Amino acid sequence: MAATLSLLSLSQLRCEYLVNPLGIDRTRPRLGWILQAVDPERRGLRQVAYQILVASSEDLLAAGSGDLWDSGKIASAQSTHVPYAGQPLTSGQRCWWKVRAWDNSEGVSEYSEPAWWEMGLLDDTDWQGQWIGLKDLATISRELDEIDREVLAQRLGLLASPYLRKGATLPHTVRRARLYTTAKGVYEIHINGQRVGDALLAPGWTDYYKRIQYQTYDVTEHLRQGENVIGAILGSGWYCGHVGFLADDVGYKYYGQEPRLLLQLHIEYADGTSEMIASDETWQGTFGPIVYSDFLAGETYDARYELPGWDEAISGIGSTAIWQPVLVEPRNETPRLVADCAEPVRITETLHPQGVTEVSPGVHIYDMGQNMVGWVRLRVQGEPGTRVQLRFVEMLNPDGTIYTINLRSARQTDSYILKGDGQETFEPHFTFHGFRYVEVTGYPGQPTLDTITGYMIQSATPPAGTFECSSPMVNQLQRNIVWGQRGNFLSVPTDCPQRDERLGWMGDAQIFIRTACYNMHVAAFFNKWMNDVVDAQSANGAFPDVAPRLVVKTDGAPAWGDAGVIIPWTIYQMYGDTAFIEQHYDAMTRWLDYLQRANPDLLWTNLLNNNYGDWLSIAADTPKEVMATAYFAYDALLLSRMARVIGRYDEAEKYHALHKNISAAFCKAYVSPDGKITGDTQTCYVLALHMQLLPAELRLLAAQRLVADIEKKGWHLSTGFVGVGYLCPVLTDNGYVDVAYRLLNNDTFPSWGYSIKHGATTIWERWDGWTEEHGFQDPGMNSFNHYSLGSVGQWLFQDVAGINLDMEHPGFERALIRPYPGGGLTYVRATYQSIHGSISSHWQLDEHNNLTLHVSIPANTTALVSIPAVSQEHVFEGGTPAEQAAGVKFLYKEEGRVVYEVGSGTYQFAVR
Ligand code: BGC
Repeated sequence: MAATLSLLSLSQLRCEYLVNPLGIDRTRPRLGWILQAVDPERRGLRQVAYQILVASSEDLLAAGSGDLWDSGKIASAQSTHVPYAGQPLTSGQRCWWKVRAWDNSEGVSEYSEPAWWEMGLLDDTDWQGQWIGLKDLATISRELDEIDREVLAQRLGLLASPYLRKGATLPHTVRRARLYTTAKGVYEIHINGQRVGDALLAPGWTDYYKRIQYQTYDVTEHLRQGENVIGAILGSGWYCGHVGFLADDVGYKYYGQEPRLLLQLHIEYADGTSEMIASDETWQGTFGPIVYSDFLAGETYDARYELPGWDEAISGIGSTAIWQPVLVEPRNETPRLVADCAEPVRITETLHPQGVTEVSPGVHIYDMGQNMVGWVRLRVQGEPGTRVQLRFVEMLNPDGTIYTINLRSARQTDSYILKGDGQETFEPHFTFHGFRYVEVTGYPGQPTLDTITGYMIQSATPPAGTFECSSPMVNQLQRNIVWGQRGNFLSVPTDCPQRDERLGWMGDAQIFIRTACYNMHVAAFFNKWMNDVVDAQSANGAFPDVAPRLVVKTDGAPAWGDAGVIIPWTIYQMYGDTAFIEQHYDAMTRWLDYLQRANPDLLWTNLLNNNYGDWLSIAADTPKEVMATAYFAYDALLLSRMARVIGRYDEAEKYHALHKNISAAFCKAYVSPDGKITGDTQTCYVLALHMQLLPAELRLLAAQRLVADIEKKGWHLSTGFVGVGYLCPVLTDNGYVDVAYRLLNNDTFPSWGYSIKHGATTIWERWDGWTEEHGFQDPGMNSFNHYSLGSVGQWLFQDVAGINLDMEHPGFERALIRPYPGGGLTYVRATYQSIHGSISSHWQLDEHNNLTLHVSIPANTTALVSIPAVSQEHVFEGGTPAEQAAGVKFLYKEEGRVVYEVGSGTYQFAVR
């Protein structure tokens, strides 16, 4: 029988989490799509089969050919992570694909719109280019006319930006051109006067000794038959600029002395011939206007030294004496070149200043209204040689001047020296700042609000979640969490974006990752970073404190090193990605073996390394070995689950037993029969409960002690980084959601609300970053943009809105919709774009406290909906008793709740 037209439509085709990725090096990339009901009213739609066609051209695909792969009709509900299984793919190959699905009412959908991916350079021998940079810097610098001392000194200090160029005559019309490029340092590419792509600070940060990412650009439109010029500007970046703590300078020139470029331009002509242009000895180089550019120090740009037309084919430019032959270094197999597999850093928002004040003559301070990360564009007009200075800070002193001291030795200063020919604009190239306020000095004339424009930069992970409720303060909290994430996810998850640090701290990342996943699509981002984590693993199996590992070279402390286990587990839970587990399984077991070898009595008391403890807790010192042992057990628990997921059942048993044994050792050493845990802090109980260390009879007592401690502190929290993420979820799971709400709603110290009451627009590093009593905390460590304490965001989504995971059905293939109305909120509205499609939960209470819950569940998934109601007689869906509603199945009753199973669709539950 001919199949009828399906009720499903397919869209959002992705390959390795990305839409139409250009240049990937996974040879069997994984494909995914989102299914939607054509009729939004339709419930319970499932995919029962799919067919994927992959073709070598768009035309072939349109004609219905799958010359690279025709999967045939596969009876399966899988719509995520389907591995390509067609012809072997070659470097640079473009693959066009589409997919259709059969649904559970015997219809077959139309094929989706076509999508594509393109392979990168798969073989080391594909790389013909060599590393090039500036030769004989001293000579070039001295040859430049009228150079001032600062310019010369800084150029010789090698933080000046090299400009590199090559002219090329292309004999024919260009049909297709790809640029593969990377740098030791950071780069900007220009072709024929135009910047290529919008990626910033590429190639991103990795351990440059081991692995360097390259980016692929489609530059077909940039090239033309005849004369062309390819140009590059290099910055020091993470490679040879200041990274980490400036004071001890160990992060300066850590990977190398000077920046280098590696590039290949693959050109195919209309007549079928091809050509490759690579970075080699035929290039020329010089210095230009970027006198100095460094992440921590800022950028100095002297417009008088601009090189007009340097990236264009203008006769004469390339032959001036300043342009010198470049220095060439051969490329070796290490560092390995890998395709960039995540979203690039980009400008994601433009911000305009909210106000400007002149605090003293000629000193103007702009308020951007938001603690942000990036830079500003300056507009100015004046005499040549005039120097305008911009300094960037997070806070102001009481007298309105800029508060710089918490930046430690990060100067965060940009300087622009005018060339003096009318209206000029300046934006820095290879630096970024964490700031809310900008001090402008040296400005010729009266600056206005239009003088500067702010640009927010971040790893451009697309937004995934929204959360809104009836409390303005909680909405601001959610906003601050998101801004903290945006500002700190910059190639790696950093601790802070402003002071001299900005490192990939593992502890911060592990506590925040679940929140991060709700806010944005971060799978590709963490896929990349987990490689950095594994690159940073010691030979003995130890994960680091920071990844990439530099500056803080120590092996990982408890709750920091454990990120190496928690990251894969969380990515698996949120995205259903088992390959992620497989890829890193050995690294994880090496970490656990390392801990076990050193701690045969199963208390983590040896190799505590930097042993930070429950970092920045408030007057509550969780004993470090209690915290450490809890994490040791947690690693074993997660590894046992992950071993099971990938079918390693014996090892799953082994780690399960290890978790039991560590828990027993924990209880014996630290827990008394009345449930008291050594240290008696909130974090002790939170960890013991979350990490399943306690026998059933002690769980209740531990939860009571947790609440008693919160009460003793006047209903305040005292947790630091390590306890904070699980605090509200644990209270909720153990019957104390009212206490969790009390903490959420607090605005007295210490609380999230306290910072908001005092104007925070991001999450602060410390609960007491600023207090009415003491003013600013110790400037030695006091960032106002640190995301860790924002890890409560997980709870807002999973329990307040109730968009939770079902651990047995990861990737929201079956969601658990379990909201906990309370805390005086009258409504909550949240959405989450899962890898299976958009889930939403919207609850509201009327004036009689009657609950209505709107839920929407994507096609091809199901959900358990857990409704707070005394019994099922009180629950209605769309006006009929819920049990009788189409597509709703009563499952069971549990304390104070009724649980239903639903298929895809939208539902409106009411409790009356
Ligand atoms: C960082 C933290 C980090 C910590 C280690 C601090 O300097 O800013 O976020 O986790 O050190 O305890």
